[in-house]
Amino acid sequence: MSSPLTQDQLKALVGQAAVSHVRAGTWVGVGTGSTVNYFIDALAASGLSILGAVSSSEASTQRLLSHGIVVSDLKSGQPLDVYVDGADEIDPKGNMIKGGGAALTREKIVASQAKRFVCIVDESKWVKVLGNFPLPVEVIPMAAHVLIERFQQKGGQARVRMKGDAPLVTDNGQHILDVWGLEILEPLAFEDEVSQWPGVVTVGVFAHQKANICLMGTSEGVKTLEF
Ligand code: 5RP
Repeated sequence: MSSPLTQDQLKALVGQAAVSHVRAGTWVGVGTGSTVNYFIDALAASGLSILGAVSSSEASTQRLLSHGIVVSDLKSGQPLDVYVDGADEIDPKGNMIKGGGAALTREKIVASQAKRFVCIVDESKWVKVLGNFPLPVEVIPMAAHVLIERFQQKGGQARVRMKGDAPLVTDNGQHILDVWGLEILEPLAFEDEVSQWPGVVTVGVFAHQKANICLMGTSEGVKTLEF
């Protein structure tokens, strides 16, 4: 009897499967995280001839460059054919929570410029309602305490994400709040509301930039879901 695949093996499977959603001769948006790392490695190994990548983090940029993949800044008139990224949670409509790797702001920017969002996850990320995973929110540091109170009024407990003894600093020089205890029943309205709060840079609900396709690694193989 074969043993079930580990979470890392499922991530590797979907990273590999995502390569078939990339078209030769196009620019590719690349997300951040351990699942995306498998995608980057598989894309490089495939030998597919792409124009290059637009990256959502310093970490992904370094990995792309290490494989000799051209990395470009986001430019106008440079449409991205596809954006490939992982997620911390995804619901049956393709709404996601993202930002576990603190790259949510650039992820949302790059995703917004792509024709298709292909989300790659293992099955542990599938949820009926978003909010079990603590919601990441990138914030301007001086607003952190005011925003912690605002989340409290919504029933959430927010904490500044730490790296050692100091707040984690994002690629954009800002801080992250992680918010526990939310049940996000209306992701689009929630994203709209929290995005308006002064001091919020980016909320980790991706409803406006939801997935078009989800490749989900399961013990029966990769399932393709379209939204
Ligand atoms: C980074 C993200 C990642 O996509 C998310 O945290 C999933 O990461 P992993 O693939 O390592 O499980 O949003 O900001």
